[in-house]
Amino acid sequence: MAQLWGGRFTKETDQMVYDFNASISFDKRLLSQDIEGSIAHATMLGETGIITSDERDSILEGLRGILMDVSEGRLEITNEYEDVHSFVEANLIDRIGDAGKKLHTGRSRNDQVALDMRMYVRSEIGEIKADVKALLFELHDLMKKNLDTYMPGFTHMQKAQPVTFAHHIGAYMEMFKRDYTRLTDTYERLNYCPLGAGALAGTTYPLDRELTASLLHFKGPTLNSMDSVSDRDYVIELLSDLSIIMMHLSRFSEEIITWNSNEYSFIELDDSYSTGSSIMPQKKNPDIAELVRGKTGRVYGALMSMLTTMKGIPLAYNKDMQEDKEFTFDAIDTAKDCIVLFTGMISTMRLRTDKMEQSTMRGFANATDAADYLVKHGVPFRDAHGIIGRLVLYAIDKGVAIDDLSLEELKEISPVFEEDIYQAISLKECVEKRNTIGAPGPDAMKKVIAENESFLAAL
Ligand code: ARG
Repeated sequence: MAQLWGGRFTKETDQMVYDFNASISFDKRLLSQDIEGSIAHATMLGETGIITSDERDSILEGLRGILMDVSEGRLEITNEYEDVHSFVEANLIDRIGDAGKKLHTGRSRNDQVALDMRMYVRSEIGEIKADVKALLFELHDLMKKNLDTYMPGFTHMQKAQPVTFAHHIGAYMEMFKRDYTRLTDTYERLNYCPLGAGALAGTTYPLDRELTASLLHFKGPTLNSMDSVSDRDYVIELLSDLSIIMMHLSRFSEEIITWNSNEYSFIELDDSYSTGSSIMPQKKNPDIAELVRGKTGRVYGALMSMLTTMKGIPLAYNKDMQEDKEFTFDAIDTAKDCIVLFTGMISTMRLRTDKMEQSTMRGFANATDAADYLVKHGVPFRDAHGIIGRLVLYAIDKGVAIDDLSLEELKEISPVFEEDIYQAISLKECVEKRNTIGAPGPDAMKKVIAENESFLAAL
């Protein structure tokens, strides 16, 4: 047991208590942030004359040595230390002696861990944004290639109106664009430096908090020392961002699974992104999409856990907050894997555009357009709705599409129909006429694609 706080104790900590309290097994992940933060703190202590420049130089050299030795495998982070902060400080003192004991001047583990966690979340946001960006480029590509790939649009899982594959993918493009900007917002709000808040009430040393903040590339120091050490809003925000991303990926996965089914066959997942069955030789399963859908629960769990952990904590730091790490790390790892794998899966899937088009033809997706035809010829919409309803019933009975009925049959239901009805309800016409902003018509889609082009160029 290597602890930083033995002085006021007369008894050893019980082993089980020690193990329960320790966080090294998971917070060792924060080593580089911890050392980077300590380097900035020591630099500032030197700059303000709180330690001498010799002491500062030897601390900096010691800290850099620890980081290098760990990353090159010469030094192992073992469970004999309580947490990553104790590991670094104990090793520093071993290396450089008394100067190492001065590193913690004007600092507490409370502001230290608040800093480490903020820096970790900050750098992970950068990585997650890069993964979302790659996904956005893939979606953009799919959109550009499928402006006239017709497919049925659904409501209630029932064929509703014809759209295009580009338009359907465009809906996800919007979701992931929002996800990207949400991550940027979270980053902007968290980007203030808590170091210098001390245990909770600042310190009597003349720390230069502006300097530490700028050395660590923060916009500035945080403004309330009690909040600084007990704020984990940015963790909750990131977990919310990730939960929303996972919700989007999960909905998309659900569609991929449906489209990949024998019954739909709108797409075929690549062999490299599918798995087989141990007993049924014919199977090619969409396990990756199912796992993405399944892992969504895990990320939501992290968000719920963190919200619940924080809800009863009085100001300022309490040890409950150590629980911010494991689920957050897991949620970040999970979401990153899911985004990357999902992107690979959709970039390798094969589109069965013939099946999509056939499916659009069967299922009366053009019934609204048939009603609109009547409206354009003076029939009030409510009456037109009733007429087409009867027409659909007749066609269902015959087992054909509206397009397959003869003009005589159509006229029997409404004399308003003329030869041009067939063109008016053709797939091409149904889609091409829908050109209001956001609709699937090619002119509207081209505008959106141009907007997306500039969105992507600015990332
Ligand atoms: N391992 C602790 C955490 O993650 C570090 C802060 C400890 N501070 C304290 N006062 N015990 O929260």
